Amino acid sequence: MASGQLSRAEALACSGCRHACHVMLYCDTKSQLFGRLPIRHIILMQMRFDGLLGFPGGFVKPSEETLEAGLSRELLEELGVALPILVEDHADSCYAPASSHSSSSSSSSRLITHFYVKKMEEEQIREVERAAASTATDHGQEVLGMVRVPLYTTKGGGGLAAFLSHSFIGNARSQLADSLLRLNLVAPEELHKALTHSLKIHT
Ligand code: GTP
Ligand code: MN
Ligand code: MN
Ligand code: MN
Ligand code: MN
Ligand code: MN
Repeated sequence: MASGQLSRAEALACSGCRHACHVMLYCDTKSQLFGRLPIRHIILMQMRFDGLLGFPGGFVKPSEETLEAGLSRELLEELGVALPILVEDHADSCYAPASSHSSSSSSSSRLITHFYVKKMEEEQIREVERAAASTATDHGQEVLGMVRVPLYTTKGGGGLAAFLSHSFIGNARSQLADSLLRLNLVAPEELHKALTHSLKIHT
């Protein structure tokens, strides 16, 4: 395991820690941009109230609910759909990086973030997008909108690199990049190029 990573059981053993669970919902798609650029996969992220990109999910209280039930509750609030999340969907757990965006004092308890990945059918993903933009109670409040991650690179170098150049909450950017690699959603050399290029875009 990479440094800072914990198993699900080790993470839960820290009763003094705060816990948050987030999930990457995605599907395969045959659709093409401009009728020629394969979109390949639809990956859902969200524009948060604080202007940062992140995954749907939130704080969970292990003393009151399982991690997975807590994540499902957050998804109902943020996406407006009841999505069962299973222990098998768990990808990794790690200590959250000390964040400059965090308003909490340095003395507050450590945060452990749990990450889940769930593959769905394209029609289910579209239903999530519709519900998130209409019936979700957090729509327009904690969640400003769902966004799809562009996985392609355009002639001008836009697409994945430009997306990765935006600001992300916590380690959501690495959770995205790690997942793209691990699930083989983008070729390793393409991802490496996009990550490198993304750092030069605003400088
Ligand atoms: P409230 O209902 O306002 O408490 O928000 P929430 O429960 O939806 O919590 P939120 O989604 O903001 O997540 C809780 C904490 O986890 C955040 O303050 C961040 O530190 C962290 N976090 C949020 N989104 C992500 C994410 O996509 N990845 C990671 N690794 N951490 C995240
Ligand atoms: Mn157009
Ligand atoms: Mn929430
Ligand atoms: Mn949230
Ligand atoms: Mn919450
Ligand atoms: Mn809330």
